[in-house]
Amino acid sequence: MYDFKIEAADTPTMYADLALALHGLVDGEGDAIANMANAAALLWETLPEINWVGFYRNVEGELVLGPFQGRPACIRIKFGEGVCGVAAETRQVQRVADVNAFPSHIACDSASASEIVVPLIRDGELIGVLDIDSPRPSRFTEEDEAGCVRLGEILSKVL
Ligand code: SME
Repeated sequence: MYDFKIEAADTPTMYADLALALHGLVDGEGDAIANMANAAALLWETLPEINWVGFYRNVEGELVLGPFQGRPACIRIKFGEGVCGVAAETRQVQRVADVNAFPSHIACDSASASEIVVPLIRDGELIGVLDIDSPRPSRFTEEDEAGCVRLGEILSKVL
């Protein structure tokens, strides 16, 4: 049984604990779907104030929904469209304080107010993106971004 209960005093410590837990979950496992599923569950259980967390995979140049937690979501996103598609096309983290102000934002859940999307890259190839939504505007800070990038580095090796 995996029983991760992360109650860190501050955000950097929480992400350090999350990184250790994530590494423990995925280390030695070569199945990408299993690793994405467990990662989504771990983040869902740990991160406060989120309403969706999961993956879109790069399938022949289009983002296709992968394992996630939260409400059912749009299945296919073109590169350059939405927060996820812009992250995929630019290969840059997208940290959006107000999704309604993001020109091509795709509203899968009207409760979402802010969002962070981390591109997952291995050996120069875009594998997919990690997407996290929050019902609170400006939910994701620079500390969240640094933490999520670290989690993305761990994931990129096992997807
Ligand atoms: N909001 C995303 C779409 C995916 S959902 O948030 C799960 C976007 O604009 O790319």
